[in-house]
Amino acid sequence: MYIYGKEVSKTTREELARHVAEFGSRYGRVPCLAVVLVGEDPASQTYVRNKILGCEEVGIRSISRVYEDGTPQETIAQELRALAADDAVDGILVQLPLPKGYDERYLLSLIPDSKDVDGFSPNNLGLLCMDKPRTVSCTPFGVMKLLESTGVSLAGKHAVVVGRSNTVGKPMAMLLLSADCTVTVCHSKTPDLSAFTRQADILVVAAGRPKMVRADMVKPGAIVIDVGINRVDGKLCGDVDPDVESVASYLTPVPGGVGPMTISMLLYNTYRAAVARENA
Ligand code: GUN
Repeated sequence: MYIYGKEVSKTTREELARHVAEFGSRYGRVPCLAVVLVGEDPASQTYVRNKILGCEEVGIRSISRVYEDGTPQETIAQELRALAADDAVDGILVQLPLPKGYDERYLLSLIPDSKDVDGFSPNNLGLLCMDKPRTVSCTPFGVMKLLESTGVSLAGKHAVVVGRSNTVGKPMAMLLLSADCTVTVCHSKTPDLSAFTRQADILVVAAGRPKMVRADMVKPGAIVIDVGINRVDGKLCGDVDPDVESVASYLTPVPGGVGPMTISMLLYNTYRAAVARENA
């Protein structure tokens, strides 16, 4: 059975729209997200467009700052400093990956923890590791909501995460651990990957390799979450072969699975950042 992120996120967004409206009445302003895009990568342009449309849908104000590839790094740094200092801005997001030549860690370090709606800062990631989450990275957070939507209890389950990025794999493993799963993290240097994936009750794949997980690598009845978004011959596909749907109890489709949920959690994080800033 497929888990459709759009359906799961519908209630989240409706609820959020109500909270955003209440926030407006209470504080006399609207939460605001600033999105910074550098370069012309078509996938990044699409993601940014969808994030801005998501803001409109729930009543969050958005500001976008778009720079050509080749813009001096200090120009972008100055903009990030200005957004950091701007009281009207609650959240700042730099769309990743940045084009070659930009220092991602340096630029992201200019976003204050309180406005880090991606949950990428060392403090936000560290708090998550310590089971005291403040802002949780949008994709892993969205995956937890998708898992919750199945109604299946996670405690004691063996969760296998394929991928160890700071943005998805690592925070994903921490969230699953906090949900009392036994967690295994696999990556590109894991020998005999299928020996691990076949043990998974919950399999989260964020490897960035098209259709790398095939039906024979999945335990019957497993819940499989496909975080991959790859473009092959002009068509979008995930890291999981769609044939897995016949083996798994649940599978997220690509597109329409994790993607819409990630955006919903970004909107939620922006609203929460606005509330926290009003109450700081
Ligand atoms: N690129 C791919 N996913 C993400 C995300 O969640 N946040 C940002 N900033 N960039 C991304």
